[in-house]
Amino acid sequence: MAKVISFINYKGGVGKTTTTYHIGCALARFHDKKVLLIDTDPQTNLTFLCTIPERWEKFKREHGTVSSLFHAYLNNTLDTFDMNKILWKFPVRIGAHEVISKLELIPSDIELLGIDIDLAAKTTRRNETSFYHEHINVLRRTVNRIKSELGIDISRDSRDAHFYVEQHHILKKAIDKVKDNYDYILIDCPPNLYLVTQNALAASDYYIITTIPDHLSTIGINILIRKISELNNVLLQKYRIARVEAACVALKGILFTIVHKVGPNIVSMNKKIMQDIHDKYGDLCFKKYILWGIGYTEAAAQSAPVFLMDDDNTMRVAEQYKEVTKEFLQKVNGNEI
Ligand SMILES: Nc1ncnc2c1ncn2[C@@H]1O[C@H](COP(=O)(O)OP(=O)(O)OP(=O)(O)O)[C@@H](O)[C@H]1O
Ligand SMILES: [Mg+2]
Repeated sequence: MAKVISFINYKGGVGKTTTTYHIGCALARFHDKKVLLIDTDPQTNLTFLCTIPERWEKFKREHGTVSSLFHAYLNNTLDTFDMNKILWKFPVRIGAHEVISKLELIPSDIELLGIDIDLAAKTTRRNETSFYHEHINVLRRTVNRIKSELGIDISRDSRDAHFYVEQHHILKKAIDKVKDNYDYILIDCPPNLYLVTQNALAASDYYIITTIPDHLSTIGINILIRKISELNNVLLQKYRIARVEAACVALKGILFTIVHKVGPNIVSMNKKIMQDIHDKYGDLCFKKYILWGIGYTEAAAQSAPVFLMDDDNTMRVAEQYKEVTKEFLQKVNGNEI
């Protein structure tokens, strides 16, 4: 069964997508792992690292994207939603033939942009008094009486908890259907902590924070970890009330990306901040890190990971993600890789 890992930071431009993509590609290409990448960001960056707009347009038209899943929930058709339909089998393609055959993708699209608002509106609608309020209440009282006679928990708390869990398990429910087909499912989160991101966290075993070692990012790490811990606590409370068996996501690593070097040395401010975070979080920090490097944009323009490019610069940066992927495997699995 796959391990599910979210790459997250509510701060933008800190290497979440680049890392999700390259660790995913490296797992599939160099470690023979079956990998599913899930793009939950309406910016669609992970999707466009994997493929070109023309192929994505065609896939989207014929199969849908991750936003189809959330729309299915909003339209009350999630139970019959065919998750296999939005699984893209060979998204990464170089030229006509070369593919990363063990890598699959659930692409995103801009339609996801309004979903958090639509999900929130569903909560509001649920709480509103409707025209049929009185009739519904009569029916509800009857159903409640029957449930109570049968010993089923009918409290408002219980109903609210069920709804809360349902709204946070849209992605998890879909992932659970295909989890057995993969070794790793990696989720690229958008730079926020709204409901879609909370869905990614609720579906994940672990989360990994990517961060640039600068002042604002350092402050952000503390806040992010605290916020996720608060979200976990609320979810745990709802699980208890709704009697749902589920575990909460755990922090598995903090990875420094886009680290700057001058000559052979990391610039002093970056170095100091990396040391401070190491002092605070110890082994949670990756020992390896990713330097700022040339080649990412060039590889992205060809919808290929840096590993598949053959110029010197890109081959150098590719080595760093290969090393980080080895450490990722150790962190996620301990010694059994
Ligand atoms: N090691 C690196 N060296 C140089 N440029 C990098 C490196 N890693 C990422 N980039 C570039 O930095 C930009 C931001 O990276 P990326 O999109 O991975 O961040 P993100 O955290 O996913 O951003 P967002 O919050 O917008 O989703 C991209 O243009 C990417 O190509
Ligand atoms: Mg991103």
